[in-house]
Amino acid sequence: MPITLDDKTVLSSRDDDKGALRELISDTLDAILDSIEDDSAFSGIDPYHLRDEVRSLGFLPEEGKGWEDTMESVRKTILPNMLRTWSPSYMPHLHSPALLESIAAELIIAAFNDSMDSWDQSPAATEIEESMIHGLCSLFGYDEGADGTFTSGGSQSNMSAAIAHRDRYIAERLGWDVKKKGLPPEAARLRMYTSAIAHFSFQKSAHIMGMGYDSVVPLPIDSNARIDIGKAEEIIGRDAEEGYLPFLIIATAGTTDFGSIDDISSLRRIADRYGAYLHVDAAYGSGAIMSGRYRDRLGGISAADSITIDFHKMFLLPISCSAVLVKERKALDCFLIHADYLNREEDEEDGYINLVGKSMQTTRRFDALKVYISFRARGRRGYAKIIDRAIENAAYLYQRIASDEAFIAPVRPELSSVVFALKGGDDLNKRIRRILLSKGIVIGQTVYQSQVMLKFTLLNPALTYEHIDTLIATIKEMAASLE
Ligand SMILES: Cc1ncc(COP(=O)(O)O)c(C=O)c1O
Repeated sequence: MPITLDDKTVLSSRDDDKGALRELISDTLDAILDSIEDDSAFSGIDPYHLRDEVRSLGFLPEEGKGWEDTMESVRKTILPNMLRTWSPSYMPHLHSPALLESIAAELIIAAFNDSMDSWDQSPAATEIEESMIHGLCSLFGYDEGADGTFTSGGSQSNMSAAIAHRDRYIAERLGWDVKKKGLPPEAARLRMYTSAIAHFSFQKSAHIMGMGYDSVVPLPIDSNARIDIGKAEEIIGRDAEEGYLPFLIIATAGTTDFGSIDDISSLRRIADRYGAYLHVDAAYGSGAIMSGRYRDRLGGISAADSITIDFHKMFLLPISCSAVLVKERKALDCFLIHADYLNREEDEEDGYINLVGKSMQTTRRFDALKVYISFRARGRRGYAKIIDRAIENAAYLYQRIASDEAFIAPVRPELSSVVFALKGGDDLNKRIRRILLSKGIVIGQTVYQSQVMLKFTLLNPALTYEHIDTLIATIKEMAASLE
């Protein structure tokens, strides 16, 4: 029997509505599973052809086409051309497959559609988020005074931290209230310092924060793609002498391309010397905290004033899922604003927590549920297996490539990314990546020291050494055939 949506709109206690949802979900699950015919990452369709197919679907019909017709178009045109993040042939970006149980968690999130801004919009969800935030603070070595919030991603986590520290620095140093009065006259002298290969979200943040890209000073990196501490001391010291205001130093624990981890303890020392705050962007590397073998690589992270954690990278949770932790709860006061309809003072007194006061978002997803479900289901040990696998796959790949005459591999991986190039020049490397894409194998491309490089980002725990061997052999054969 076809499902008619006309009289069925939202969930209710009626058997009719429950039955309709059951059928919709069951059809959807069948369509997803039927669409997976092999292990390739992508159909290989070219962009013009795909655009034509998608345009033929139309936009908004006057009369609804109904569920069956709509699902048929999804089955025929959309699902076959989706990117399959779980494929062992997909490894270009910090873009992970989703753990099975976390896909089920998304269903709960969508079905209830609770919103994290106030307790009366998300009772259990607020309590779970608070509980996960406090657990995370302790996992990363913070004490009772710490706090945090879930965000839409690493970019927003980084920006939240930058705003919090800037406002505090200006209040403490210049006696100026940014929230009320905007930027002070000295604003053009504010500076944040981060690796030359740090994520671009800091420049974007600086623009949005009214300070401009020039307020983000890139620090040179060493041969391991980590901030060169000697040069950082020199640059920050010189700026301070010249009257600039170093308010924030940012270490990256897992740079986007290389996965390199900055020396957090040394950067803490420099930050203290100049009265700057220290943020660690661990959007990528935070997953290593779960590993008994590799967590030391995040050494010193608890010395940071704030930490960005992305769960939609190494933790393998569906987009979006990120958190920013702050060592001192009051740092997040920069987002506190009173709205009569949302966060009444008497609520707090009576134990109702309204999380809107800690976040730059108002309506916000219950992403903490995914963390709760996967953490509980797998435990620290279950996660450690996943993270260790990713790190060890990268070590294996690096060792294979670094010992092969055909390749250059400039940086030994600390996490799960390997940047390399085939000897033979930029064009050869670009062509190899394009040909691989058309065959459903998706790898990354970047630039290092003015040279086009290829990149494997190995987040998928299903990837084996055999897959890696086959891939290297395929790339070498391709290169030989192009000579
Ligand atoms: C080191 C680092 N920080 C921040 C981000 C931004 O995270 P998101 O894409 O979740 O906004 C990324 C994204 O890849 C990243 O690699």
